[in-house]
Amino acid sequence: MTTTLTVQSSTAASGGPSPEPASEGGAWRGAIEISDLGKSYDHQRYAMRGVDLKVAPGELIAIVGASGCGKSTVLRMVAGFEDITEGSIHVDEVPVTAPSPEHAVVFQDYGLFPWLTVAENVAFGLKQRRLPRTEIRQRTAEYLDLVGLGRMGSSYPHQLSGGMQQRVAIARVLANRPRVLLMDEPFGALDALTREQLQNELVGIRQRVGTTILFITHSIQEAVYLADRVVVMAGGLAHGSPGHIRDIVPIRLGPERDVTGAAFNQLERDISALVHETTVA
Ligand SMILES: Nc1ncnc2c1ncn2[C@@H]1O[C@H](COP(=O)(O)OP(=O)(O)OP(=O)(O)O)[C@@H](O)[C@H]1O
Ligand SMILES: [Mg+2]
Repeated sequence: MTTTLTVQSSTAASGGPSPEPASEGGAWRGAIEISDLGKSYDHQRYAMRGVDLKVAPGELIAIVGASGCGKSTVLRMVAGFEDITEGSIHVDEVPVTAPSPEHAVVFQDYGLFPWLTVAENVAFGLKQRRLPRTEIRQRTAEYLDLVGLGRMGSSYPHQLSGGMQQRVAIARVLANRPRVLLMDEPFGALDALTREQLQNELVGIRQRVGTTILFITHSIQEAVYLADRVVVMAGGLAHGSPGHIRDIVPIRLGPERDVTGAAFNQLERDISALVHETTVA
């Protein structure tokens, strides 16, 4: 399985045909398998332990839970930023051991380079991977269009609104055609209206790109609106027990979701009860 990954990356780097997006290529799927995952930062206590999660290709999983229960820790390990203390993570059967454009992260604070234009920000990782110049130009335009910023390529990040900056950050990550898109409270810093807009854009982007998404949020409404399943985490060092998965709630609402609908509100209440229950425990 490692061979598959190596062959695809080297093909891209050597200027051969670029890999297919996750929705099209047979091998570009984005299945995640997290097994008995644990993390100790101090070699004494586990911040999070015993996490098992299988994510199907193209699935959107929202992760909710009280502050400190280990949501970002899980995400950073899937991203390859943190060492794994115990257990394992595989993306398409390849163990995650280091950061890679294959499993890239969008954070709350955008993380754009202020000295680069919008287009240069999107092109940055592609240049690092030494993709051919025409391919970089084409992908940069394609993904800026995808997030509705086709005309903003020559602007600088400070000239954009927060919502637009976050769109650039999403385009930058998607331009790598990752197997897995990891998002840690990506819309947390945005005003309510912009947040709704970006949620809807994410739904659209997902339909077109098909990448598997792990999405951390503190908004239960956002989780129910976006996700196929909501993972509720609980515990954490502040609660005297390692963070863990409390429950996994399937969201069987179909693609058109009405935030005022009875089924929607019931799911919000159920998940809220699970989150609340775990903060008291
Ligand atoms: N680099 C680190 N060094 C030591 N401890 C850490 C580190 N990062 C996280 N922790 C601890 O691990 C636990 C889980 O943290 P994590 O950031 O994963 O929580 P979270 O669920 O994302 O919380 P929040 O909702 O506040 O973002 C916390 O107790 C935190 O103090
Ligand atoms: Mg966090």
